[in-house]
Amino acid sequence: MSSSTVITNIATLVTNDPSLGDGPLGLIHDAAVVIDGDRIAWAGTADRAPATDHRVDAGGLAVLPGFVDSHSHLVFAGDRTAEFNARMSGRAYSAGGIRTTVAATRAATDGELEANLTRYLHEALRQGTTTFETKSGYGLTVEDEARALRLAARHTDEVTYLGAHIVSPDYADDPAAYVDLVTGDMLTACAPHARWIDVFCEKGAFDGDQARAILTAGKAAGLHPRIHANQLSYGPGVQLAVELDAASADHCTHLTDADVDALAAGDTVATLLPGAEFSTRAQWPDARRLLDAGVTVALSTDCNPGSSFTSSVPFCIALAVRDMGMTPDEAVWSATAGGAAALRRTDIGRLTPGARADLVLLDAPSHVHLAYRPGVPLVAGVWRRGTREL
Ligand code: NIG
Ligand code: FE
Repeated sequence: MSSSTVITNIATLVTNDPSLGDGPLGLIHDAAVVIDGDRIAWAGTADRAPATDHRVDAGGLAVLPGFVDSHSHLVFAGDRTAEFNARMSGRAYSAGGIRTTVAATRAATDGELEANLTRYLHEALRQGTTTFETKSGYGLTVEDEARALRLAARHTDEVTYLGAHIVSPDYADDPAAYVDLVTGDMLTACAPHARWIDVFCEKGAFDGDQARAILTAGKAAGLHPRIHANQLSYGPGVQLAVELDAASADHCTHLTDADVDALAAGDTVATLLPGAEFSTRAQWPDARRLLDAGVTVALSTDCNPGSSFTSSVPFCIALAVRDMGMTPDEAVWSATAGGAAALRRTDIGRLTPGARADLVLLDAPSHVHLAYRPGVPLVAGVWRRGTREL
């Protein structure tokens, strides 16, 4: 028998279930939530909470679903401080910097890569992330890509094969042969360790035809597509994502009206990654335009050593509210339920009976403080699968 715990005296509970409370966030005030084993058993007003084995007093603070960070690149070695410094003195970001991390990652031992990964995961957990997706993409050989995915799969179910991050430096003179490798032997070695396949569809990486070939091969091998699309320039990535029913088109910084219309008509989530625009001093993605068109928007960190070296979802929420036209409610939804949608998951990102008991307790009376108090470490408690981890 699993034991049940009630968390009570919650000033604001974000359930993301409109049938349980107010608005899209399903907000309940003076609330309680009951955890049974690794699941949510009940959520409602505290005065109606059922009897349980244990009781936790939230002290008049806010509780929300754990963040779902649906886009990160955490299997890597080294960092790119010098490149960041140069950029902050005026140099532009380019995909070419990825090669620096590829060299460092290939040279690292399994133990070093896993220690690095674990370090960033703990960092993210301390900031409220209870589910994360992560990718390969800094190996770019059959062995190094498979190794990255094997290591990642020890820590998350949401593992993405990104052999098509850039053309491997070993194939600089023959990109077509690299695409053959990515869709051939590398795919065969990687598919057993991954759920998703991703392509960086961008000038300096892979064009629309290459991206289509890679994602189609991945689908045939049982992987589901997601795409790095329209980050640095306009391009075919977003419409390709919708055409292939990708779970998510990520970045979406440079969008035509046709791109927005395609996203609004399809089931592909637009995942916005403001850490990348922050760290590359690039133009912000226009979340307001997407939301007003009816597009489902997710917010994630893109944590990687090149373009966005932050593991903090709260930081991304603050940026999205300040600079991308999102309301605090929208940004919190996008970082929880939106991330779940970008991973095609319904068991996370919401605090509704039957959902996974992944919760964050904030040292604040409401979720709005995540944007209102930027840079402040507000996460005071984290439960993952019903177990308190912080
Ligand atoms: O999502 N855009 C491609 N990949 C990463 C950047 C990787 C890097 O610069 O190392 C991104 O921003
Ligand atoms: Fe990325």
